[in-house]
Amino acid sequence: MKKFLKGIAVAAGFAWAAGATAEIVGNADAGKEKAAACGACHGADGNSAVPSFPKIAGQGSKYLIKQMNDVMSGLRVIPEMTGQLDSFSEQDVANVAAYFASQTIVVSQAKPELIEHGKQIYRSGIPAKSVAACTACHGPAGQGVELAVFPALGGQHAEYTGSQLMKFRSGERMNGGDTRIMRSIAARLSDKEIEAVSSYISGLYR
Ligand code: HEC
Ligand code: HEC
Repeated sequence: MKKFLKGIAVAAGFAWAAGATAEIVGNADAGKEKAAACGACHGADGNSAVPSFPKIAGQGSKYLIKQMNDVMSGLRVIPEMTGQLDSFSEQDVANVAAYFASQTIVVSQAKPELIEHGKQIYRSGIPAKSVAACTACHGPAGQGVELAVFPALGGQHAEYTGSQLMKFRSGERMNGGDTRIMRSIAARLSDKEIEAVSSYISGLYR
């Protein structure tokens, strides 16, 4: 029996080690070089100056990798990014993700008059419409959950956040499995609620 259990432990250990080596580890320094072209829209350090372009500084690297892969496979259509990732290897994607993940986001500012409403939706959801609290997945400070690939939201441009909620609602953004969660949440949000929660999120310090 003891020998049998040991066998299982060794097999499990081997599987774990094999999984660990299969994952490509990103190198932020190499990523910085490769990310030069991205700066035109996202800012050299991932803090875009244009409110319709997302800030990607400090975003979780797993989420960044997923989005880049979705853009490359055509699952997420971003006309502005046509050709940007064409020459990227899997290692380049991991490196660029590591670079932007290592940067610090510059937080925007919420509109004072929208804070109360936005905060209520963010923290408590909208029970009457079965809208889950955003906190549950994106964290109380909008920091996201790296391992679950729940993106960080805190500090993001309100215009970008609002546009994504509208794209989830219309079904225009449906890049893969987990977007189902966001599509069903956004389907129940009104324009006013989207505006309020997006504004609140823009002022959240992760
Ligand atoms: C010409 C402008 C432009 C350039 C250059 C560009 N992007 Fe983007 N990127 C965008 C826009 C616009 C979006 C958001 C589109 C939308 O509304 O869904 C975006 C979205 C993204 C997202 C998803 C962000 C999120 O929060 O979901 C990632 C990741 C990203 N870009 C990475 C890159 C990388 C890496 C590069 C450089 C190799 C790059 N982009 C170059 C315009 C650009
Ligand atoms: C059950 C978990 C869950 C809940 C609750 C949730 N989200 Fe999300 N959210 C996700 C996941 C997963 C994604 C990433 C989808 C993908 O892979 O493209 C996401 C993506 C987003 C994005 C896109 C981020 C970007 O950078 O493009 C926004 C904006 C967003 N959520 C806002 C909200 C808001 C606002 C609420 C509350 C009303 C909320 N979410 C509640 C899981 C959740």
